[in-house]
Amino acid sequence: MDVMIIKGGTPLNGSVATSGAKNAALPLLFATLLAEGEHSFLNVPFLKDIDSTELLLNHLNCKTYRDGEQFKVLVKKPESIVAPYDIVRKMRASILCLGPLLARYGEAKVSLPGGCAIGSRPINLHIEPLRQLGAEIEIENGYVIARANKLVGDRIVFDFATVGGTENIMMAASLCQGETILENVAKEPEIVDLAQCLRGMGAKIEGEGSSVITIEGVDELTPANHRVIPDRIEAGTLLIAGAITGGDVKVTNCVPKDIDSLINKLVDCGFSIETGSDWVRVRPCAQWSAVDVDTAPHPGFPTDLQAQFMALMTQAKGTSVITERIFENRFMHVQELARMGANITPKSQVSVVRGEKGGLSSAPVMATDLRASASLILAALATDGETKVSRIYHLDRGYENLEVKLQGLGGQIERCS
Ligand code: EPZ
Repeated sequence: MDVMIIKGGTPLNGSVATSGAKNAALPLLFATLLAEGEHSFLNVPFLKDIDSTELLLNHLNCKTYRDGEQFKVLVKKPESIVAPYDIVRKMRASILCLGPLLARYGEAKVSLPGGCAIGSRPINLHIEPLRQLGAEIEIENGYVIARANKLVGDRIVFDFATVGGTENIMMAASLCQGETILENVAKEPEIVDLAQCLRGMGAKIEGEGSSVITIEGVDELTPANHRVIPDRIEAGTLLIAGAITGGDVKVTNCVPKDIDSLINKLVDCGFSIETGSDWVRVRPCAQWSAVDVDTAPHPGFPTDLQAQFMALMTQAKGTSVITERIFENRFMHVQELARMGANITPKSQVSVVRGEKGGLSSAPVMATDLRASASLILAALATDGETKVSRIYHLDRGYENLEVKLQGLGGQIERCS
């Protein structure tokens, strides 16, 4: 099992490019199930979650392969419309095949994704809207069994601006009969990217990025030809890596406005941030101040940057109150940061971080989930001495060669088996 060995204390300096967005690529690849034929994508990152998605698509009779820069998906009618537990359990986002399979083939049998370290991750906001569009859905023996002769458009109001729920219903509604109006939808950049890809496939969709998306169903769609947007969470992670080490880092191939909420918080802390059309630069700050953070749906502060920002706050002057409003158990990194000497008091939804410059010391720590892994690496980079982060397989689900990118900035980090 791989571990990451980090020798901290060196400011990171230089320029680093982000890869394609994991949370855009996953729904985009499942959207290919809406149209038979050859789909082409650019900027698909090399990640374990992409491997898991390929496994499921291959199981559903799709051929996936990389041809130079292009990622190809050859979709044929599946012999089986079952997404089995042993594949789905590797990646919860597999539930995103439900809407496309149901809309295109009128049936789907998808293993319940189950929970994960950060929460129970229910899918009621995927199931109920599909029933409202006319699907008959039973939950039996750990599977979602769905059937629909024809999905018929309707007005759907989400209880919560769920990212995956919005994506599943957008894809299903694209092939519905008539008009579907989705209200209180997620507004993440990945939603906008999916809508633009679906439009390119012939979907009649508008309003993405706002709270209301309107979709006029069509009889069929054509294969996608789409470029995945840059990964805003990776961009934010790399920016925090520069900030926490007192370095000067320019993150390129990113969309600054997609991480406005992080940029605003870094400026509030006392960092000077420069932005261009597709880059953001952070410069050294001798002593940054603690600020409070509440995670929220986009354009609020992303829950996927909460753990990384907490690492920064352990080195801030003052006390930071971090409130996690999206997931019920996303403070697994707290006890690991505490092993490194961080002074953090976790409550149910709130963690109080009493910052102290140089307050961290190297210690063996364990990654518990994807973003916690990144948080521990950032903390280790800011700490004199050598830190070993184990269970680094969590990191590989969502970051493409993070250690290589950090080495490129002068970071002393090595992956060891
Ligand atoms: C997506 O997960 C992302 N994953 C997550 O990124 C991200 O943290 C999350 O959105 C929020 O931004 C992908 O895009 C593959 P949600 P998703 O549905 O779609 C509750 C990462 O680190 N909920 O917006 O599962 C749910 O329990 C990952 O890259 C229901 O109650 O998120 C959670 O508390 C982690 N019922 C909240 O809503 C439902 O049917 C947010 O969930 C669905 C969700």
